[in-house]
Amino acid sequence: GPILLLNGPNLNMLGVRQPEVYGRETLSDVVALVGETAARHGVQIVDFQSNSEEALINRLHESLGNIAGIIINPAGFTHTSVALRDALVIPDVPIVEVHISNVHAREEFRRHSYVSPIATAVVAGMGTFGYVAALEFLVRLLGSQDE
Ligand code: DQA
Repeated sequence: GPILLLNGPNLNMLGVRQPEVYGRETLSDVVALVGETAARHGVQIVDFQSNSEEALINRLHESLGNIAGIIINPAGFTHTSVALRDALVIPDVPIVEVHISNVHAREEFRRHSYVSPIATAVVAGMGTFGYVAALEFLVRLLGSQDE
């Protein structure tokens, strides 16, 4: 199945939102970049961004049985949402948590993640390249599971 690329609140504003922290690339740039990497590996990406916790949770429910892995930047919900974490484990596939910024070098409240304990891997501080790194890792992981 495809890899689900989920982006949480305010990431639709990538490129114009605090560019000194998150860079100048837009979300479409990021999705295109991940898509190119996926195509090179013969893997499909399904991408979804929402500012709504409900929409992200519903998307995860719909993904049950249809996806091989999840790349998620939960954005602000990282630090607040038990419900999103509960939904993330439902598809029962490997999860890579991505943060564009180094959340550990910022405000104290960004250092706690509800998602990290259920993630296979966590990426932070690599800028938007973190999404590519996450995909490369998942491709490798899922490939090794097939053998
Ligand atoms: C973020 C870090 C979060 O703390 C913040 O709320 C975001 C983006 C990141 O990608 O660095 O919205 O997840």
